[in-house]
Amino acid sequence: MSDQPLFKVTIDNVTVEVPAGTTILQAARQAGPEVAPPAMCYYSKLEGSGGKCRTCLVEVSKGSEKDPRPMPKLVASCRTTVMDGMEVKNYTSERVLDARAGVVEFLLINHPLDCPICDQAGECHLQDLAYEHGKAGTRYEFQRRTFEKHTLGDKIQLHMTRCILCYRCVMVADQLTKKREHGVLDRGEHAEITSYLEKNLDNEFIGNVIDVCPVGALTDKTFRFKNRVWFLKPLNAHRDCEKCCGKVTLWNRGDEVFRVTARKDQWGEVEDWICNDCRFDKKKTSDWVIEGPREIARHSVISANKYIGLKKPTETIDEVIGKKPRLFMDINKVSGVNRKDIDLSLIEGPAHSIDFDKDK
Ligand code: SF4
Ligand code: FES
Repeated sequence: MSDQPLFKVTIDNVTVEVPAGTTILQAARQAGPEVAPPAMCYYSKLEGSGGKCRTCLVEVSKGSEKDPRPMPKLVASCRTTVMDGMEVKNYTSERVLDARAGVVEFLLINHPLDCPICDQAGECHLQDLAYEHGKAGTRYEFQRRTFEKHTLGDKIQLHMTRCILCYRCVMVADQLTKKREHGVLDRGEHAEITSYLEKNLDNEFIGNVIDVCPVGALTDKTFRFKNRVWFLKPLNAHRDCEKCCGKVTLWNRGDEVFRVTARKDQWGEVEDWICNDCRFDKKKTSDWVIEGPREIARHSVISANKYIGLKKPTETIDEVIGKKPRLFMDINKVSGVNRKDIDLSLIEGPAHSIDFDKDK
């Protein structure tokens, strides 16, 4: 047991106890997905992430037990640590919801609305965020940013126009690979992800930038335009790999492996990083030991229709007909309008009930 004191914090009326030093966002995740704020740049597996996108803003209505004054401004929950007795409003705060709608509008100022052709559609965090927190229209009337095309090698595609500059991919390159080969150049409107001097990214773990990208700015060239994610069946699979854990999610259609990704948790974060060999080069079902269907916990279109734990109703037709085809009923016997002795073509004009009256 750690000696760290536990702090009581209440988020949207749900109280949890967390060790000192926990951020509001982490505490909210412990309290449950119903109260956890969305996060577009924070990534629990990447050191120093967060503080870039402002999606996770919350209202601190009570600072702490000792100093109950509310914080005057909304705070980034991924960067603010909890105090004992702190009270936080997320979905219960009008101010937060309004600010978040503004953040979504800002994020979408330059982001193209090309979801119909974007490979990330269906699992895009920005798409989900816009549906849940955005407004239907935009007030932006100017031209969107455009960039010169940069190539990031033969496996990773960069669409800079879709980038929201969350820095996650830069941190993956910094923290997972031995040498850093790409980063953010320039500032403000001109800031962009690039591999300096068009240098290819050829580290064994660099494919993970695809998994951490919350939008479709970094996609897998071996999968691009091949299928929509919601038509694929996610499966847990593993193999003996010398470089990584070898535990992945296969995205299959029938027996065909369309893509391989790391397994992601309920927050859409990678559980364990995987190497490029597993991701890009093992595209046969026979390369893997299939464990079973992967449940997609995140609220998203890809979690729909996977039929895990489906209970089919018992089929009773054999019981009823005794395995031999037979007529269930003689329609002429039970229907007054199907009498064999009445020829409809001989009735003048449209038929009326009187024509079928037995006592006629
Ligand atoms: S390319 Fe993706 S992961 Fe990298 S900064 Fe842009 S949005 Fe974030
Ligand atoms: S998730 Fe907190 S600022 Fe981006």
